[in-house]
Amino acid sequence: MKYVIGIDLGTSGVKCLLMSENGEITGVKSAAYTPDFGANGYVEQDPAVWWENTKKCLKALTDANSSVKDDIVALSCSGQMHSSVFLNEEGGVIRPAILWNDTRTTKQTKEIYNIFGGKEGVLKEVFNLALEGFTLPKILWLKENEPENYAKVHKVIMPKDYINFMLTGNIKTDYSDAAGTLMFDVKGRKFNEDFVNKVGIDTKILPEAIESTGEVGVITAALSQELGLSPSVKVIAGGADNSCAAIGNGIVASGEAVISVGTSGTVVAFLEDIKSEVTGAVHLFNYSYPGSMYAMGCMLSAGECFNWLHRNILSGTTMDESNVLAAKTPIGSNKLIFLPYLFGERSPYTDANARGVFFGLSSLTGKGEMARAVMEGVAFGLKDMFLLVEGFADMKEIYITGGGAKSELWGKIICNVINRNLKVLNVEEGPAFGAALIAGVGAGVFADFKSAKAKSMKVVKEYTPNAADAAEYEKFHAIYRRLYAANKDIFASLAELS
Ligand code: XUL
Repeated sequence: MKYVIGIDLGTSGVKCLLMSENGEITGVKSAAYTPDFGANGYVEQDPAVWWENTKKCLKALTDANSSVKDDIVALSCSGQMHSSVFLNEEGGVIRPAILWNDTRTTKQTKEIYNIFGGKEGVLKEVFNLALEGFTLPKILWLKENEPENYAKVHKVIMPKDYINFMLTGNIKTDYSDAAGTLMFDVKGRKFNEDFVNKVGIDTKILPEAIESTGEVGVITAALSQELGLSPSVKVIAGGADNSCAAIGNGIVASGEAVISVGTSGTVVAFLEDIKSEVTGAVHLFNYSYPGSMYAMGCMLSAGECFNWLHRNILSGTTMDESNVLAAKTPIGSNKLIFLPYLFGERSPYTDANARGVFFGLSSLTGKGEMARAVMEGVAFGLKDMFLLVEGFADMKEIYITGGGAKSELWGKIICNVINRNLKVLNVEEGPAFGAALIAGVGAGVFADFKSAKAKSMKVVKEYTPNAADAAEYEKFHAIYRRLYAANKDIFASLAELS
């Protein structure tokens, strides 16, 4: 029996998962770390912390499964997107990585738009908007603010590429992570060198990009000794966390999509090609399924809204208790509507100033109304993204996943708000699971992603919409939309206050 390892290198921890050629998970190990949060929106991390924790996890996983060590043939890594690792000529890290959720680069995003005559100009070249978190604005920031460090940059890579580099000694990225740099021609599947040159960045710092299922190399002799693994273990490129998570959630064909209610919320759909007008309201990235892309709506606060409610407002009430109270509350939460923009919003508005709102507080408002309104508000946000993604992809088979989807009530609400059948699969390990499948397909353990899916996943639950409830929710969603429109300028004024 052959085995593969999937690694998920996240923002707050790393997870390593062992999978058999039958698609069964036979071991999981994880380790936690915290990024360094600084003033002015700075979020950084020393890549050494990622590598030390990944190695620790790999060692724990392989030691706990020592009887199959010799049967491990490949590993692959999923990683937090956009975060920039700057390497010098010798492969040393020049400064801490600047992470995807760092917001120091507003000035640089404006500069990029100015060079290309606005948003449309940038969308035409790289298919995505210049968001603060993306890689290119960070490189520009480095050039402007730490020229001595910029001068030393030999390559800029993403976090999982750094792990692959430490595993093999080779520097490569994959298309799905390259797409999140804001320097990649997503349709043409290559770095857009003219675009990068016009921004004033030397294209020699870009790594080679390959498919997620392509090979970066084999593990180093030192690592093979340290972990007791065969020196022929292949390191398959892997991909961006959202891409790997979608693979791990069974998105392997046109028509398939997944709604994820984690800390943030996403709607991701398989794309064969980009046929609709590119507006930037959803991300368009290359996918880990060879030759394809995905459209992704990303709301910054989904499950986190419910956590926040219990941490800051309903402390003393458990989430289970809230679920019971919310289930007894009618649709529309007795006319209480919640806007989930606690951290500003990406899709559909790309508005850092937007904030959360409870609208319609009345003498009827209690804990049940607040809990249900939060679930409904997040569902409305998911619907906004769903409608945008639908502009690119015809979604027939829709899965729902993530912590939020574990609540039967929330699952039903999302189903009725979106008014489509939603299926739940038996898989919960998201990106690490997807990375293991990518390792398996890349190393030939699985014939392809479709057969890997058939082996490893099955539908365990299905939500079906109720026509009357869906019609009721349509009316509330329309008001929800008007609330953002009416408050957009007021959010901006609020943001200007010191
Ligand atoms: C996607 C994004 C996040 C990070 C988190 O565009 O910024 O989902 O990938 O790891």
